[in-house]
This record gives sequence, structure tokens and C-alpha cells, in this order.
Amino acid sequence: MNHTNIRSIFTFALSSQLVLSACGSSSTNNFGVESNIDGESVATIISDRVAMSQVVFLPDSEKAALVPDLPATQFQIVSIAEGKVVYEGALTDSKEWQVAKGESYKVADFSTLNSAGDLILRIDGVEDKAFQIKQNAYDKLHDASLKSFYFNRASTEITEEYGGAWARAAGHLDEKVNYHVSTLKGSAKEGSSNSKDVLLIASKGWYDAGDYGKYVVNSGIATYTLLAAFQHHPNFYQNRKINIPESGNGLPDLLDEISWNLEWLEKMQADDGSVYHKLTTLKWPGKEMPHQDKRALYVIGKSTSAALDFAAVMAMASRVYGKQSDTYLTKSQQWLKQATSAYQWAKANSDLRYVQPDDVKSGEYGDDFFHDEFSWAAAELFLATNDTQFITDFTQYQQPFTVPSWQHVSALGVISLLSAEINNLDEAFYQQLRKTLLDNADVYVAQYKESASRLPMVADDFVWGSNSAALNKAIVLMQAYRLTDNAEYKAVASSLMTYVLGKNPTGYSFVTGFGQKPAMLPHHQASQSDGVSKPIPGMLVGGPQNGQQDGCDYPSDEPALSYADTWCSYSTNEVAINWNAPLVYMLAALIADQKASEE
Ligand code: G3I
Repeated sequence: MNHTNIRSIFTFALSSQLVLSACGSSSTNNFGVESNIDGESVATIISDRVAMSQVVFLPDSEKAALVPDLPATQFQIVSIAEGKVVYEGALTDSKEWQVAKGESYKVADFSTLNSAGDLILRIDGVEDKAFQIKQNAYDKLHDASLKSFYFNRASTEITEEYGGAWARAAGHLDEKVNYHVSTLKGSAKEGSSNSKDVLLIASKGWYDAGDYGKYVVNSGIATYTLLAAFQHHPNFYQNRKINIPESGNGLPDLLDEISWNLEWLEKMQADDGSVYHKLTTLKWPGKEMPHQDKRALYVIGKSTSAALDFAAVMAMASRVYGKQSDTYLTKSQQWLKQATSAYQWAKANSDLRYVQPDDVKSGEYGDDFFHDEFSWAAAELFLATNDTQFITDFTQYQQPFTVPSWQHVSALGVISLLSAEINNLDEAFYQQLRKTLLDNADVYVAQYKESASRLPMVADDFVWGSNSAALNKAIVLMQAYRLTDNAEYKAVASSLMTYVLGKNPTGYSFVTGFGQKPAMLPHHQASQSDGVSKPIPGMLVGGPQNGQQDGCDYPSDEPALSYADTWCSYSTNEVAINWNAPLVYMLAALIADQKASEE
């Protein structure tokens, strides 16, 4: 700890006590010192009973805290520097949240307080909680959440220069991947005696999650979300560095990181345009580092969903990277060709679902309805080629707009079409898409207003990976904000960011390394096996849901309370690329908007 930090903690603690005694508080708060991920320490007054973002607030965002059902009716915000109350408000009436029955909350909403500073939330002299409002509140969090993709790179060593304490040896080179017998069935390679024909080179890519598998379907939505983060916020990413080996090569770091995955994805296509469903070992890895997992690797199965998700992402990537540099021009053309052939193959094989072979135990990402995938791929291919046949296809396949997930992707094409730099769409069609998105965003706003916790989260959102449902809803709300400039959409979106950072009834920040009580034991093989006590920072865990498919112990059966920060709990405490990508997107969106409002 350096001297500046010691001084700031001392000053903070001293002035906190002054404020407390001046107000005659009889509170039993804990005074604590928290260590942030970068080693910077911050003083805190911790109330376990008040749930709010455990990470600093952006000035221009929704700010609220969940307060237990205490007799208090008022709250104050005290400025530590000024030693006086700078905001006063009424608590809402106490209400039970439908997804966390048994608990009632009052809400302290101080969203309109937007000047930066060190502050204390005081609930009628009974509870105190220190917090901060800062312009750069989310900067480190954003960079760590993006960097976590780098930490999940397959086929490469993470050196100390880039990985610090989490340096590790290279694993899964994927230079000699076997074809699972089910994959070769009926293909030109079936029964081949030429060893070159029965091995695939499919290096690079990101590990999907806690396990070391690479899955095309899940890579699809994760890569899309990161590409969208770039497309929607190009200025924010232009010079943003996260200290990866490619930093400084002229390409934004985000695009360098994404291309690590694209260079794997491009290898997952067979000559006839079909796309392998996944690349994994036959069984789950043990608690071991990547280089210790020596099991044989296989490409397993083909599916319509893998082909269409591949087509969508490759078409999108061709558009984004084609504009970057001459180096990427050839790649961009190649990716578009690959996207087109995958789409054509899917048209000819429009109902091929992935069926898990008996000897395979890795993840499934199985789906049996592909119209939403068709509409997404058609939208991306239209944007990449301007061929209106794809709009005809899009219209034919378009499905009701749902919260984006790996299985339900109808929203992705709509978002891409509505955010294209050049709008070549027929006006009536554009307006129909716009209305679809806004109608859904309005539903989320209504959910927010009705919820006892001021959160647009309902029972259907508490699925495996509920935190990504939260942040994908936030992405939809941010599109509504982009389309209308109505700040209410952004406020509701930012409430979902504070939800994953601590404004939730579990008391946890769901992002590793950030907050006073972050998830510490994520179901992430590398974090559990590397001998470092803290997990890799910036990873979003799946979040509460009451399926309890892992048979672990949970504190409650209520959807929003059924969460356990244990290695055992892979159904609530695993991490995954398709959950982290919306975290990156949302942080970029909120930071970029905050910066724009300051200009
Ligand atoms: O589709 C049904 C829906 O019709 C039904 O109403 C609902 C009721 O609960 O269930 C839906 O199915 C769920 C499915 O996800 C789609 O949302 C299953 O119950 C649920 O068990 C399933 O969970 C998936 C889990 O793997 C188990 O297959 C998660 O979405 C998925 O994110 C997760 O992914 C794993 C990979 O397989 C392997 N790598 C780790 C990764 C994260 O845990």
C-alpha cells in the first residue's frame, strides 16, 4: 500500500467518524478497508443489510439501494468532504419481491444526485453505507471484464507480462483434433485411412466457461455481442488498451481479442459449408490447469444452429474488420464467403439438431428450432452484401423478439438492422423493427416500475445464466435509448448493471475482483487450480436461479436467492463467455454515454 492510499483511508475514516458523531448515530456499522483489484485500497462503512452497487456509481445513472424492512421512512446522503447532508429522500413502502419471497424491501432512490464524491447513505440514523460517485467509475471494471477473454484464450501461454499473478502455461494447442465418429458419418472423410484427413487444426479461440470446451453456438452470441460493442462505440474502443500481446499493433485491442476467437471459428467449417457443433474432450476436464488436461480433443457433430450462428458472426466480422485495414481486407472477403456457404448449407439442412452421442459428456447447446437463427444470419448477410433476398428471408423467418440468449437470437438481427451506419431499409419495415424493439423495452420499463426492488427482472429471467438475462435486457434498453434519446431507458438499463454489482438480495457482487463481497469461488477450472487465492478478475458468474441442477446446497429455493458462491455450484456460479460479453457491452455503453454527456 502506498502513502497516498494510507492517507486517503485515514482521512476518510476520520471524517466518517466526525459525520457520524455529529449526527448522533447509534449505528453498529463495520468500518473496513477494502482492496480493489489493482491493489488500490478504499475505506468503507459496510452495512450488510443495505444492498446497493458495491462498485462506484457513474454520475449519470440510476442510483438506488435495497433497504430491509426497517421502521425508517426517510434516508439522507451525507457528503464526507462537506460533512453535511446533501440529499434527502423518502423510502418507498416496503414490498415483497415476487422472485425473492419472504423478504420485503424499501427502496432508497437517489438517482438525481449526480455530483462526484465520497458519500454515506444513512437510513434514518439506523444504517450507514459508504459509497462513491465518480466519472471513471467503470473504467477498470470494463478493462478487466474484457481482459477476462484474454485469460480464457486456448492454445497460448499467458505470460506474467500480460497475466500478472494469473500467468499460466499454454494448453489445448488443438493442432491435431480428432473427428468424432458421429461427425464423420456420411461425409467424404468417413472410413478414410489417410491420417491427414481425420485430424483437424483448430487452434486458438476462447474456452467457453469453467470448462475447456469451445462451442460454436455459444461463441456465436458472445462474439456478436463484443462486435456490437465495437460497432456501437467505435470511439470508445479506438485507443483503449488492455495490455494484451497485440496491444499497439494499430488495431483496437477489442478487435485483436475478438480475432483470436474468429481465427478458431473459421476452422470449424467443413468443405461443404457445414459447421461442426463443438470442439471438446469426451468428458469434462478435472480440477486442473489447461496444460494439464491431456485428454484427446474431438470436433463433435454438426447442426443447423452452429451453421447459422457461424454465418451470422462471420458476416458481421467481415463487415467490421473489412473497414479496419488492408491486412484484414482478404480475411474479410474470406469470412464473407464462409458465411455465405454456411448459410446455403443451412438452407439445405434446415432442421438438423445436435444430438449428443452416448460417449460424450461435454456441454450440449442443443436447440431444435432454428427460425430465429435463420433471421439473425439473414440480417447479418444483408448488412454485409446489401442483397435484398436476405431481407426477404429475414421477414420469412422473423420470430417474436425475446431477451437474447444462446438459444433465442431473434433480437440480434433486429438490433443489427436498427443500428446499421447506413440505413438501406424500406421505411415501413424499419419502423416495424423499431416498434418491436421499443415495445419490448417498454415492457422492461414497466417491470422495473412494478418491481419491489426496482429491477426489471421477472421469474422467466431466473434461468441458468440469469445475470446474462439481466444484462441482455439492459442491452435492449440501451438500443431503445439510442433510438429515442429517452433517458428513462438508460436509467432502467443501468439499474441492471447495479444489480449484478450488488443491488440484489444475495449480498454479492457477481463480478470477480470487484465490490466488497464479490464471488470468490467461481466454477472456473483455471481460477480454482492456479494456486492464486483470488479468482481471475472481471468475470461475471451465472447468478441466482432455482433449478439447482448441480445438487449443491443453497440458502433458499427462491429464484433470486438461490445462489451459492461455491465451486460446487456450476448452475449459479460458473462463468461463461456469453455472460461476460454483455457485461463488456454494457460497461462500454454506459462509459461512452457518460463521456458524451460531459463533452
Ligand atoms: O428450453 C427450456 C425451456 O423450454 C424451459 O421452459 C426451461 C425451464 O427451465 O428450460 C429450458 O431449458 C434450459 C436450457 O438451458 C435453455 O435455457 C435448461 O433447463 C437448462 O438446464 C439449460 O442450461 C444450460 C446448461 O449449459 C446445461 O445444459 C445453460 O443454458 C447453458 O448456458 C449451460 O452452458 C454450459 C455449457 O453446456 C458447457 N460450458 C459451461 C456452460 C455454462 O454453464
